[in-house]
Amino acid sequence: MNTKTVSSSQVSQTDTLLIQRKVSFDFSASPLHWIPNDPYSSHFISVIHTILPAGEYFFCRLYNKALPYIRDDKLQQDVKGFIKQEAMHAKAHNSGISDFLESQGMVVDDFVKQVEWLFDSVLHDKPFGYKVPKAMVQEWLVLRLGLIAAVEHFTCVLGKYALENTQWDQDQADTTVLDILRWHAAEEIEHRSVAFDVYRHLGGSYPMRYLQMLVVFPIIIGLWVKGSSNLMAQDAVFADKKPKVLGLFYWREWQRQAKNGRLPSLLWLASQASRYFKPSYNPSTEASTEQAQAYFFLSPAAHRADAARLLKETHINH
Ligand SMILES: [Fe+2]
Ligand SMILES: [Fe+2]
Repeated sequence: MNTKTVSSSQVSQTDTLLIQRKVSFDFSASPLHWIPNDPYSSHFISVIHTILPAGEYFFCRLYNKALPYIRDDKLQQDVKGFIKQEAMHAKAHNSGISDFLESQGMVVDDFVKQVEWLFDSVLHDKPFGYKVPKAMVQEWLVLRLGLIAAVEHFTCVLGKYALENTQWDQDQADTTVLDILRWHAAEEIEHRSVAFDVYRHLGGSYPMRYLQMLVVFPIIIGLWVKGSSNLMAQDAVFADKKPKVLGLFYWREWQRQAKNGRLPSLLWLASQASRYFKPSYNPSTEASTEQAQAYFFLSPAAHRADAARLLKETHINH
């Protein structure tokens, strides 16, 4: 793999200054079935609280390691903003675990430990505890940055899905859960180019990018299916269905709720992944920053964060 940095005036494609919005969410009135009358879709989406924190904290650690290799001021600034945003996502979804899922009786420890093992052992600087030879350290870094770029393609397209889903609003889904999903969605759209730009800047190749998506897609689907079926299996409303990874019910119901407009279908997810295989793929054209920014004007959590920031600045200036 070529690990030379690539310099050009187009290194950064991020068209905004990435800032951290210090949000918080009060889930005390949010029901477990946050999409009324649809426990399946509720759990299917709620599983992201259990998957994301370990991954996003890993992103923060890895991009901090990548910073010294970045030879472009704007991209450095993007990465610093990206790290701050991902850290806040992880913190917010951790509150989703404790204040939303666990406070309502869901047990997720074992699943969260499995997710942590993936990031803290398999993708560690010393994978499975083995030291990477010195000559390979930068290659191992760029390879993992490429895997994250593939994941960030999903967070961008799923972000777009969350912002554009009108069925959840028609169903009168819980507004706090919708806000954490859509605030996160909007920031994923806002920083959609950063991981890809870093991968390219550090010499990440197209063939590796292709292979990385081949690895990332089944892992995302696998974690999603395992984690969400685990939540459903603990819910008394599914006592007679016994949802499990290899059970017919789980897959049939996924298809049915996708048709109802409440979930992305497996086919839709595969078609989104397929665009990443194109040599001409570019995250900047996958979504619009304006769409993300339009949501920040609507988000109650982003408003509260803005108000708190302004108050703090006023105190400092007086
Ligand atoms: Fe995130
Ligand atoms: Fe992200």
